[in-house]
Amino acid sequence: MSPETLAAQALGQADPVTGALAPAITLATNYEQHPDGSYPQDRVYTRADNPTSEHAERLLAALEGGGCACALFASGMAAATAVFQSLLPGDHVLVSRVLYWGVRKWLAEFALAWGMDVEFTDTTDLAAVAAAIRPGRTRLLWVETPANPMWEITDLAAVCELAHAAGARVAVDNTVATPVLTRPFEFGADIVVHSVSKYLNGHSDVLAGAVLSARRDPFWERIRSWRRNAGAMPGPFEAWLLQRGMRTLFLRVHRSSQTALAIATHFREHPALTAVLYPGLPDHPGHAIAARQMDGGFGGMLSIRLAGGAGHAKAVLREVRVFKRATSLGGVESLIEHRRSGEGPSSPVPDDLLRLSVGIESRNDLIADLEAALEDGVPR
Ligand SMILES: Cc1ncc(COP(=O)(O)O)c(C=O)c1O
Repeated sequence: MSPETLAAQALGQADPVTGALAPAITLATNYEQHPDGSYPQDRVYTRADNPTSEHAERLLAALEGGGCACALFASGMAAATAVFQSLLPGDHVLVSRVLYWGVRKWLAEFALAWGMDVEFTDTTDLAAVAAAIRPGRTRLLWVETPANPMWEITDLAAVCELAHAAGARVAVDNTVATPVLTRPFEFGADIVVHSVSKYLNGHSDVLAGAVLSARRDPFWERIRSWRRNAGAMPGPFEAWLLQRGMRTLFLRVHRSSQTALAIATHFREHPALTAVLYPGLPDHPGHAIAARQMDGGFGGMLSIRLAGGAGHAKAVLREVRVFKRATSLGGVESLIEHRRSGEGPSSPVPDDLLRLSVGIESRNDLIADLEAALEDGVPR
């Protein structure tokens, strides 16, 4: 069956006990042991084993493809940090220079202190990646594409080839593209990470994450062991909401992508803007790679840079009526955010930038809202 069908039917298996089409939610924390010491279906305690999580994991694994394994985590950050924490002190890791700031902040605050040798590099520049990889020492290349909040595009097939030639794994944060648009395992990735709080759930009401692995190898077992022993499992209700959200994933992601492209195209020449950053625009530096690597759209995320600088950006933020002023991304409602304010003074994000997460509302309403806000927000 195609991924769309698997998603719409949440794998399409009725509950074996009740025949219910919508899956049950198992809230139990523990499972009864047989007199001989064994456990039915090998489930012991919910920090490791929960059928509701396992159902959502099977569905997400089917969407990412390639026979991969999947483990849900309590948040996208819990998922991302589980990958780094499964490495060893002294391991050299290369990380995209432009990426979600929470990952950068955690690496700077914790990974360095624990002796991880973290190096940031421009993963859109293959020569820079090749020069930064240390054969035999680099254990992991961490890539986000499209990367927050400039939406830079990394060529996954090319960086996987470089990393693998040097014996390093590649982990891809696929939160923004989702498996609807990009399946990193098809390009050679070893690990895929998601904040499922974003598009996969899609309704801004779940905090959870996921790690997927192309192979059930010792590194994967370490990640699973980290989840169990550090207690990074999500609750069953989050897992249940996630499987429900994923049923409409394809519709939502395609709609958001179409509307984001329409907004980017509409505003690209707007006199109040110096740039519209969106990989779907032909003049975006990563457009050709994105067109190869993203199938069916360029995603629902874009950023705009204001000619009037930070003051104008904040004025536009005050004027919007349809876009909601809020952080995060990937929900059904459109959001607008001044990232620099949220990230603080150490942020490399330009002060004149507003990040837009495009939802599924009427594109005309969104365009008219931004048009009016740009006009009303012009500094006089
Ligand atoms: C690309 C990306 N990765 C990871 C995360 C972290 O996810 P969470 O907020 O679920 O911990 C986010 C959150 O904004 C994100 O945008």
